[in-house]
Amino acid sequence: MKVKKTGVALPAIHEMGRKIQQLSEQSGQEYLFLQRGINSVVNIDLREVVKTINFNTSEMQAYPPSSGRVELRKAINNEYFGGKTDITCISICGGGMPGIDNAFQIIDVRKIYLPVYHWGNYHNAMKIRNIEYDEYETFDDLKKIMPELSDCAVLLGDPGNPFGNKFDDEEFFAAIKQLNDNGTIVFYDSPYRRVFCGSDDNFYQRLLDLENVVILDSFSKSLGLSGQRLGFVHSKNAEFNHEMAVRLAFATNGTNAFSQILIEKLITTPEGKKAVNDFKTITVAEITKNIKYLDDAGLIANELYKGSTPIGIFAIINITEEDLLANRIGSVSLAKFTLSRKAEAAKYSRVCVSIPHEKFVEFFERMRTTKNG
Ligand SMILES: Cc1ncc(COP(=O)(O)O)c(C=O)c1O
Repeated sequence: MKVKKTGVALPAIHEMGRKIQQLSEQSGQEYLFLQRGINSVVNIDLREVVKTINFNTSEMQAYPPSSGRVELRKAINNEYFGGKTDITCISICGGGMPGIDNAFQIIDVRKIYLPVYHWGNYHNAMKIRNIEYDEYETFDDLKKIMPELSDCAVLLGDPGNPFGNKFDDEEFFAAIKQLNDNGTIVFYDSPYRRVFCGSDDNFYQRLLDLENVVILDSFSKSLGLSGQRLGFVHSKNAEFNHEMAVRLAFATNGTNAFSQILIEKLITTPEGKKAVNDFKTITVAEITKNIKYLDDAGLIANELYKGSTPIGIFAIINITEEDLLANRIGSVSLAKFTLSRKAEAAKYSRVCVSIPHEKFVEFFERMRTTKNG
């Protein structure tokens, strides 16, 4: 069989997960799975919400519309956009990743700029689709090359992956607006934002005035439901939305109806809102304690945060992946999140800080005692 090879490897995180699982089984010892990108403080408690769902309906059992169920798109409009957008601007996808992949394919640009340190999936998706890559480090770097960016796209995220860092909203908005006004397409991919805020957050509403901004979001992190594979894409551009509908129709035949109904219930019903609120309150409290612990212990790589603050669900620490693994802590080397800075990044690791504080401290204290003793 002749195969068209992309040259792209499977995500490093899967390999690391297998390795840690194996080490744990062989040694019979507990390992911390901090290499993952999921909230693991608690599960969202779906018991009361599931009781509100009727499984024996045609909505549940038949094909949903390819751009997503109208009820879910209305719920997203109310929850994320204060009811101020049009549901034809919202497309439902099977998670954040397919939204990103389709959006990258739809736009006609010379290249897409990614941050120097970025989630590897962006670059791999671009490689598979033969999309030209370039990189930037700071907003100031982008400002210096504004004229060159008018036929390009720029990807931004806040809080970002791998740093788990948050910039000032005003500063971020100003950068997005400048790019938008320059004719640059801006992908605003921030699936971690809603872990830390709720429907009173009006950032997406402010982006509605910017015609070149494409918002990419997912329920994997903010609701802890990565297994349900649900996300959405928002664009004000009718042609973009038509192409997205076409791709969703012919590449997926629509997105799982059950997960759409479940998420709609979570963001609209009293039972759902309570489950979401409880999940986020407990999760953010533990994340905050874990980041403070790392900071107090001098482990956060503050020199990399440049004008931003670590808020989670990740943090970059100044210990290597190998040293962490020797102390039974899974992580991903920062070198796996960059193409151009691998050497300097190798001394840092990305850890997920969304796990119970007590467990987190237990492992890191043991490592610190061993090192100092
Ligand atoms: C920055 C970023 N964007 C998008 C996603 C996509 O999320 P998913 O496909 O799990 O919904 C992730 C997942 O880890 C991510 O880290």
